[in-house]
Amino acid sequence: MIIARTPAEYIELRKSHAGKSLGFAPTMGALHAGHESLLQKARMENEISVLSIFVNPTQFNDKKDFEKYPQTWDADLALAEKNGVDIIFAPTFESIYPDQYTYKIIESDFSKLLCGKDRPGHFDGVLTIVMKLFQIVQPTRAYFGEKDFQQLTLIQNMVKAFFLPVTIVPCPTLRESDGLAMSSRNVRLSNEERKKAPEIYRIINQKISATEAHHQLTQAGFGVDYCVDLLGRRFVAVRLGEVRLIDNVQI
Ligand code: PAF
Repeated sequence: MIIARTPAEYIELRKSHAGKSLGFAPTMGALHAGHESLLQKARMENEISVLSIFVNPTQFNDKKDFEKYPQTWDADLALAEKNGVDIIFAPTFESIYPDQYTYKIIESDFSKLLCGKDRPGHFDGVLTIVMKLFQIVQPTRAYFGEKDFQQLTLIQNMVKAFFLPVTIVPCPTLRESDGLAMSSRNVRLSNEERKKAPEIYRIINQKISATEAHHQLTQAGFGVDYCVDLLGRRFVAVRLGEVRLIDNVQI
């Protein structure tokens, strides 16, 4: 397993794998079993696998949230090694934003709903970094979790809009045994909050209206940013203490 710290370093490494299919899992680190499932698929379906680890500051509208984002570098390396990752691309900010974020990818419709409404600029940052990563990594297939369904949809549509030569592979949400969707943010929950968090999935997964689910979440003590049905799915974002959690289920 080799680590590249700049686009130039990565491009040099990529040359020795020219012509091979490449599976790519873009992440912000703090890896868990959900990421592991992406890496395993990437490994299985391609000749080489690449993991990127970069906590992308441009997608955080809240500076505190960025500063508190969990960083677990050593454990991430061990997990990557265990899952047969060939290259880790972990760029510095300066190397991946030589333009200081003056150039952006902006989607002007779906990105303004749901998380885009509560986190202005979030998806501009996500789409811009993913476009940069695709340009550098040159993946055959890229793996994204359905937990971030809005992100996944926006990336699928960006690939179509810009004719990018990559196949996006959606991967099912992995859940803890109590139903809580796996997320890097879960480690920030206190013991009390962690006990309460599985209620999110239990409530949205019932055969009730989104309005009723919203009501039940509020009653259970969550700060509800949204709970809406769209595109055949129910999407939810709630605040639990200082942590914002999202989930979605098919309806
Ligand atoms: O889902 C994430 O971890 C991030 O939004 C991504 C896709 C790696 C972009 O920074």
